[in-house]
Amino acid sequence: MSRPTVLVTRRIPQAALERVQAACEVQHWDSDDAIPRKTLLEWIKDKDGLYCLLTERIDAELLDAAGPRLRVVSTMSVGYDHVDIAACQARHIAVGNTPGVLTETTADLALALLLATARRLPEAIDAVKNGAWGPWKPEWMTGRDLFGSTVGVIGLGRIGAAFARRLTGFDCRILYTGNQPRSDVAAPLKAEFVELDTLLAQSDFVALHCPLNDATRHLVNADFLRKMKPTAMLINTTRGPVVDQDALYQALKNGTIAAAGLDVTSPEPLPPDHPLLTLPNCVVLPHIGSASIATRTKMALIAADNLIAGVQEQPLPNAV
Ligand code: NDP
Ligand code: DGY
Repeated sequence: MSRPTVLVTRRIPQAALERVQAACEVQHWDSDDAIPRKTLLEWIKDKDGLYCLLTERIDAELLDAAGPRLRVVSTMSVGYDHVDIAACQARHIAVGNTPGVLTETTADLALALLLATARRLPEAIDAVKNGAWGPWKPEWMTGRDLFGSTVGVIGLGRIGAAFARRLTGFDCRILYTGNQPRSDVAAPLKAEFVELDTLLAQSDFVALHCPLNDATRHLVNADFLRKMKPTAMLINTTRGPVVDQDALYQALKNGTIAAAGLDVTSPEPLPPDHPLLTLPNCVVLPHIGSASIATRTKMALIAADNLIAGVQEQPLPNAV
């Protein structure tokens, strides 16, 4: 019996590649650069499975280019906003993702980003390096306290809850909002379910943990930012397009809010001359939420398992 053929669109941890190679014939874009769209459309033809990253747009055009053999799309990410799920369902193509294994690592990074933003760490580090560090002075480089503050979590899902759990160690009051209350998760955290407007009016930090979808695209717009306290800070580790970046730039420049910490932007990478990067009160990281060695390896292996199950027409270990 012939082995299934699959396309892997990026250099991935070796253990995962070997697992895929043991079960499939692999065409591999063996590079840290993204596969060009034209090449992707050519190479996907007649494949049984696709192992992709969040940088590839998986849409009807691509599925049509693949042809009728394609049985599974396996993305090495928990987020699947880059995959047209309806188009996959219409063609009976299974979709796999990597929930759970990256939850704690991403929550760690969200907390690190919050603290870096609140306590102005990038500015302070720059000051040490560029000679701006003078004698100790009472009001220099002062930021905001996390301990004892009110933190609003938008989306108390896996990562939102893991982030909130960390905040209990800082004696924070936790507010959250979402499609519905999650009392089972919220109770041990003493997190209160509130309307979005209440969360924005009361929070010292607003952390985004909802997925990107039609309801959340540009959820953070000028109106949203106006409802936040002028001393409040926005932390985004979900997806860039959840935030209207032009509105955020204006809000940070005009003092509508105090600061923002972003692990995700639109586009990615953010061009080095982007206006947001001129602002001292905007901390930007290059989408490293899940970037620990152990977690990226687990994600790669789960994506391999989803792919292999899909081409073998078995239920995926983690189906979307
Ligand atoms: P979950 O599905 O566990 O959590 C998402 C939560 O958001 C759910 O509780 C969901 O509620 C809620 N939600 C959905 N729509 C809305 C809305 N309109 N307003 C408020 N809340 C909403 O996902 P994860 O926690 O595992 O991941 C969340 C996202 O984080 C991913 O989709 C991804 O985009 C991003 N991510 C980023 C990483 C990074 O590197 N920066 C790393 C990992 C993930 P309900 O279930 O009721 O719909
Ligand atoms: C995801 O998994 O969705 C992240 O953005 C990358 O880990």
